Amino acid sequence: MNCSSSFILLLLSLLFLQFSSGNSQLQLNYYAQSCPRAEEIIKEQVIKLYYKHGNTAVSWVRNLFHDCIVKSCDASLLLEKVAGIESEQASQKSFGMRNFKYVSTIKAALEQECPGTVSCADVVALSARDGIVMLGGPRIEMKTGRKDSKQSWAAEVDQSIPNHNDSISSVLSRFQSIGIDAEGTVALLGGHSVGRVHCVNLVDRLYPTVDPTMDPVYANYIKGRCPTPNPDPKAVLYARNDRETPMILDNFYYKNLLKNKGLLVVDQQLASHPITAPYVQKMAADKDYFRQKFSRAVLLLSENNPLTGDQGEIRKDCRYVNAH
Ligand code: HEM
Ligand SMILES: *[C@@H]1O[C@H](CO)[C@@H](O)[C@H](O)[C@H]1NC(C)=O
Repeated sequence: MNCSSSFILLLLSLLFLQFSSGNSQLQLNYYAQSCPRAEEIIKEQVIKLYYKHGNTAVSWVRNLFHDCIVKSCDASLLLEKVAGIESEQASQKSFGMRNFKYVSTIKAALEQECPGTVSCADVVALSARDGIVMLGGPRIEMKTGRKDSKQSWAAEVDQSIPNHNDSISSVLSRFQSIGIDAEGTVALLGGHSVGRVHCVNLVDRLYPTVDPTMDPVYANYIKGRCPTPNPDPKAVLYARNDRETPMILDNFYYKNLLKNKGLLVVDQQLASHPITAPYVQKMAADKDYFRQKFSRAVLLLSENNPLTGDQGEIRKDCRYVNAH
């Protein structure tokens, strides 16, 4: 074989590798040709909704977690119950999730400019990215090109999303299985620096006796928020994840954990488990370090096992799979 034909062979095999490695065809600015303003439109809507209801931004952060950790970042979370589809939103693990109707507001703005072009899965990812910025968190560069699932993974939600009182080792192995290490897991839980927790998720730590790992003064405050051991789950009784800056995504979460003022069992355990405690200390002490590790972990979460290329579809209405 002469030199130039082996060069061509090399080129061909490189080309083959490029097309056969189907793992991630996500790319930066995937909609550059098909809908140049896609990312801008999502950002505009996230900002507008934030000024109307600040907690929409909080919801976009939680949506990313609940969509992406269940199988794939494929907007399966957004599917509503219809014949043949159980909604992931009906799971006990989705308790307290809100603002889904405003996802439709964002999608409608996209459909108006570029019908049938931008996936709901990318709306989930980019709205979280832009929500994080509105909450004072870092700006995260994200790839796009995710496709939407044609089915819900309602049956997988229970095993996929940890419970509020799970052990740290089971939480770590769950995140490890999607490529997020202990440091990344500690950083991601910093999402709990914003938003709220309903009393049903707290009463086990208060009644009949207060969890000894909880600061007693703090426990009195939480008991004031949650005065009965059997709260009506529908009652809007809840406590702030972070009382100091409940709407700012910052490292106060970790400072609170070090003062035994974690809200959920999983939160507080991060500060005492030998694997996670050093990261909690470092994140409490250094907000830039937190922001850097949080960005990296959010990115990994947002790229978990996406549908790309011919897989899935681009839903017209994020609540329903397309009619065929
Ligand atoms: C071990 C993992 C996790 C568990 C067990 C967990 C559990 C919970 C629970 C029980 C609530 C309160 C729901 C309620 O009572 O209304 C909550 C809220 C929230 N979670 Fe998580 N979570 C986890 C990880 C994450 C991650 C990785 C993120 C995002 C990066 C996140 C973001 C949020 C947000 C933003 C809220 C507040 C929602 C609101 O105020 O509407 N969580 N989580
Ligand atoms: C965890 O909390 C759930 C309720 O949310 C409860 O049914 C379960 O018994 C708790 N598990 C442990 C180990 O405390």
